[in-house]
Amino acid sequence: MTLEEKVHMLHANSAFAAGGIQRLGIPEIMTSDGPHGVRPEQGRDWKGVKGANDAGTYLPNNNTLASTWNPDLGYAYGTVLGSEANFRGKDIILGPGINIIRTPLNGRNFEYLSEDPFLISKMVVGYIRGVQDQGVSACVKHYAANNQETHRNDIDVEMSERALREIYLPGFKAAIQQGGAYSLMGSYNKFRGTYATENAYLMNDVLKGEWGFKGLVMSDWGSVHNTQEALHNGTDLEMGTDLELMYNSTDQTATASTANAPTKSLYDRFYLADAALEAIKKDPKLLPVLDDKVRRILRVMYATNMLGGTKRKPGAYNSKEHQATALRVAEEGIVLLKNEGNMLPLKKSVKTIAVIGENATRENGMGGGSAQVKPKYEITALQGLKNELGDQVKITYAQGYKIARGQKADPQLIAEAVAAAKAADVVVYVGGSTHGYDYSKWSDNAYDAEGTDKPDMKMPFGQDELITAVQKANPNTVVVLLGGGPIDVTPWVGQTKALVETWYPGMEGGNALAHVLFGDVNPSGKLPFTFPAKLEDSPAHKLGEYPSTPGNELKQTYKEDIFVGYRYFDTYKVAPQFAFGHGLSYTTFDYGKLTVTPGAQRATVSLTVRNTGKVAGAEVVQLYVKDEQSAVKRPEKELKAFEKVSLKPGESKTVTLKLGADAFQYYDEGKKQWVLEPGKFQVLVGSSSRDIRQTGSLTL
Ligand code: BGC
Repeated sequence: MTLEEKVHMLHANSAFAAGGIQRLGIPEIMTSDGPHGVRPEQGRDWKGVKGANDAGTYLPNNNTLASTWNPDLGYAYGTVLGSEANFRGKDIILGPGINIIRTPLNGRNFEYLSEDPFLISKMVVGYIRGVQDQGVSACVKHYAANNQETHRNDIDVEMSERALREIYLPGFKAAIQQGGAYSLMGSYNKFRGTYATENAYLMNDVLKGEWGFKGLVMSDWGSVHNTQEALHNGTDLEMGTDLELMYNSTDQTATASTANAPTKSLYDRFYLADAALEAIKKDPKLLPVLDDKVRRILRVMYATNMLGGTKRKPGAYNSKEHQATALRVAEEGIVLLKNEGNMLPLKKSVKTIAVIGENATRENGMGGGSAQVKPKYEITALQGLKNELGDQVKITYAQGYKIARGQKADPQLIAEAVAAAKAADVVVYVGGSTHGYDYSKWSDNAYDAEGTDKPDMKMPFGQDELITAVQKANPNTVVVLLGGGPIDVTPWVGQTKALVETWYPGMEGGNALAHVLFGDVNPSGKLPFTFPAKLEDSPAHKLGEYPSTPGNELKQTYKEDIFVGYRYFDTYKVAPQFAFGHGLSYTTFDYGKLTVTPGAQRATVSLTVRNTGKVAGAEVVQLYVKDEQSAVKRPEKELKAFEKVSLKPGESKTVTLKLGADAFQYYDEGKKQWVLEPGKFQVLVGSSSRDIRQTGSLTL
């Protein structure tokens, strides 16, 4: 390759494509978002592609996937993405998003998995392998410390090395080392003073050095800021720079730039384009740096059947299998938070159901920003209930509230909802959050959306008042929530008999919900993050800094340190509204005594779990480790193993959970390494982080 050809590989040549050298038979790399389906075509110029066949499978969002606690479903989910990417001619899927859910307010929590690095690690590996086994590259994002949208482009995040190692990095490490991710995306924010994408420590020392990552580092869209820094500090492929210039450009060469000719275009103005060429010409010492980047890109191209004579798999689009996966993930990811007096499952003998709330009819696929998916179809909650019940049951609908900017409780809509509630045997209230107001306009992003954080943790649009009134009118009310991340349910949950969390459940969401409400499916989802009773209880807000350091908008220190999520609530004895790992079932499970067998630096824990109820169900057996005594302050307990077991009524199974040395270690900042302090450790096994059923201990 000539110098010019090599440099041509390092940057985008249009909105989502990069590189391409016809002389050498090197095709362009085609990328697409991610993470919940293959994004509708944006075209080379972000103007879309008329008539494109781009309405595909809309999978449940990543919160739903994480709530399944079922790594096999991670694989199935990734398989759908990889297969549809092939069909759509995409080489890299921009996902999964695995940033830690640090604050309930992050607008992109809906794209992420969990507050717990172990759960993230387990789920992400399946997802990546699923995508990549189809011959498509996953691109794990956003590395690293991109935990909010407010000031996302330049907030400078400070945190201790221990917090970085114990909380914020393990998911990425697992994605690389266990998942074998071919690509990784650098994030927008700064980390310890330097942009993450050009951060020598994160990229060169940790990712490519310690972890031995051989794939390509892609920038986020516009996260490169400097040619020298990007060249030296780890960026291999620059995407999306100067979006504004692109949007407003009348420069036709920008859209005409194809694989055939590295013509001059605004893409040649990228930091890793002409400017890099000049820099390398002046300083030949940069040649090995350039070669390394090109090799990384080529390596991903070989791995994804783009070079070397192997062919892309044809893939499938909107197949029945893909839709079945969307349904299964939603069914397993729905979380039953409360079920007083066994109000659920509902009986089909019920005569009238009032469905209340605009979320019952709201379609979500196209919302949220870059994670949008144009679904082939989307079953809303109202439609799902109709599918389930046919003409057997009378279903009425009241809007209850309006999803609109600045909307408060509307007395007229409340009155209609109350009347509908009174006239029905059962109310299914479907509310919660939304991606935004008008999905066609980026400026209308709100709540669960890219580019903006939520204003607070409360239910928007006057829903607190509405739910209170509806529950009073008819106590037989099931409250169903949609949304990403935790939400404040405190104002009315005391009066709620049944509460169901469905996140953004994808194209089959309404069917999945109906199956759970009527007991065709026994819920088995577990919360992948804590629901604080109020925002102020959340560690990022109580101990840390959000959205910035007072007096310095663009700086932020994660003062809560390693005490993120349940690590904080349990250690600092703060009662959550709903605990990490919580989720109810229509049956009951009995946990037998633990057998703990210690090894040199590890242990095996086994127990028998029995379904003691009347219906089949699945239980997520969760194992937490507690260090009894330590030189440093450690969390009250940390998740270190789990397994989901399916049991018929009366059936029992033995669950064996293996703990490696890493289950007992902490990161020692002085020694700059993980250490295992000898001593006694407790092993806590239960149905949630706050519902421990059996304990054991071992001395290492
Ligand atoms: C987002 C990425 C996304 C990219 C391309 C960026 O704004 O942060 O997650 O993959 O756009 O759409």
